[in-house]
Amino acid sequence: MRQNIVAGNWKMNNTLEEGITLAKEVNAILVANKPNCKVVLGTPFIHITEAVKAVDSSVVGIAAQNCADKVSGAYTGEISAAMVKSTGAQYVILGHSERRAYYGETNASLKEKTDLALANDLTPIFCIGEVLEEREAEKHFDVVKTQIEEALFHLSADAFSKVVLAYEPVWAIGTGKTASPEQAQEIHAFIRQTLADKYGAEVADNTSILYGGSCKASNAKELFSNPDVDGGLIGGASLKAEDFHGIIAAF
Ligand code: 13P
Repeated sequence: MRQNIVAGNWKMNNTLEEGITLAKEVNAILVANKPNCKVVLGTPFIHITEAVKAVDSSVVGIAAQNCADKVSGAYTGEISAAMVKSTGAQYVILGHSERRAYYGETNASLKEKTDLALANDLTPIFCIGEVLEEREAEKHFDVVKTQIEEALFHLSADAFSKVVLAYEPVWAIGTGKTASPEQAQEIHAFIRQTLADKYGAEVADNTSILYGGSCKASNAKELFSNPDVDGGLIGGASLKAEDFHGIIAAF
């Protein structure tokens, strides 16, 4: 059966020292209060090696927030999937809407990144989601379906079964405006049906689909109680250990 997961995405926040302090705080809380879900911290690249050492890996996993779409070579400033793997990280967030919007990531480049992540035994936390105009035009179902089809549906069922999805409506990210539990359930169920149509019910049932976008302790329980919402990808509320734990405790 699929895993419930609460993953933090620190984005471009925290110096090395601040980040390791936060990782240690989260770890201490969770070692004392064993979570009922998998917990992941998505840190900046430079934090990963130290963050891996700072946490108990049976309780907290570490994710990179991106990896390159090339294997290695003359790509100044890029970090490959193999490099991420060599740090001890187990996950990589791919296709976040901020990377799509500000750094030109496309479904085609994300297809390459996903292949490289899987080839290096990293679990992709693959982000999809529509912008406000698409939601208002009722195109959100088509948008997420195309994102999934173009970046992921070349995968075999076996490869796809290693992917975690995160539905993050762009209009809910960092805005304080969350999708309603009904909106989240509706589109998560649609995403799961899309997976079932391609890979069959078993793969679809076993895929974790997280919700992201202004998720916090006060709304997490309502969102996560939906049958097709298997946890969250958390931005702002992952930057303070107590706030993040409030979300984890929703499970
Ligand atoms: P917020 O939780 O700050 O809205 O960010 C969500 C997000 O983008 C996680 O990847």
